[in-house]
Amino acid sequence: MDNKLITIAIDGFSSSGKSTMAKVLAKNIGYAYIDTGAMYRAVTLYCLDNGLIEGDSVDTTRLEKAISSINISFSVNPETGASQTMLNGKNVEHEIRDMRVSGKVSIVAAIPFVRRALVKQQQKMGESKGIVMDGRDIGTVVFPDAEMKVYVDASPETRAKRRFDELKAKGDDSVTYEEVLENVKYRDHLDRTREESPLRKADDAIVLDNSLMTPDEQNQWLLNLYNSIATK
Ligand code: DC
Repeated sequence: MDNKLITIAIDGFSSSGKSTMAKVLAKNIGYAYIDTGAMYRAVTLYCLDNGLIEGDSVDTTRLEKAISSINISFSVNPETGASQTMLNGKNVEHEIRDMRVSGKVSIVAAIPFVRRALVKQQQKMGESKGIVMDGRDIGTVVFPDAEMKVYVDASPETRAKRRFDELKAKGDDSVTYEEVLENVKYRDHLDRTREESPLRKADDAIVLDNSLMTPDEQNQWLLNLYNSIATK
C-alpha cells in the first residue's frame, strides 16, 4: 500500500513528551523532524550573546534589525545521528537547553515580529510536506491545513514528575518536586494566556492524553494514527 506525503503537526505543553514521540514517529516513517521550540530558543541565545536582553526586557529595536540575519537550521550529527540546532552555522544544541535560555525564552517567544519571522521559516521548511513539526501553534497558525494534528495533554502533576525525574537523572537535586510543579503551572499559564498565538487546541486536532501511557504505547498510537490518515 502506498502512503501519501502529509504534514504532521504536534502541539502541546512543555514536558508533555511531544518532542520525544515526534522524533520517533519521524524516524519510523522517514520524515524530517522540526523542533520549533529549538528555534525560539536559538533566537533567545542570540539575544543573550549580543546583549539584547536586560532583566526581563528585550531591546526589540535592535532585535528587529537583526532578525533577518539570524540563521537557524538543523543538521544531523554524523556520529550519533541526532538532530542538532545550528545558529549562524554554529552547533548550539546543548546551549539552547540550559537554564540561561530556558529562563528567557518565553519572553522572546511572545514578541510578534519574532513569531512572524520564525513561522515564515517553518512554513518554508514544510512546504514539500513529509514533515513532523512540534510546537505550540503548529496546527493553529503554521500549518492550519495539516492532514494530521495531534494535541498532547497530560496533567501538570505527571509532567512535573517527568521533569523532576529528568533533572534528578542529570544529577541536579537543587529543586523539589513542588517547585517543579509550580514552574510547570506557571509556564502553562504563560503559554495559554499570551496575546500572540497562545497554545490552543486546533478544532480538528486529536487529543492524546498520555498521563497513563508508556512511551511505547504513545509511539504505537501515533503510528496507527499516521497509518490511518496517510494510507491511500
Ligand atoms: O518546547 P520548548 O520548551 O523547547 O519551547 C521553548 C519556548 O518556546 C516555550 O516558551 C514555548 C515557546 N514556543 C512557542 O511559543 N511556539 C512554538 N511553536 C514552540 C515553542
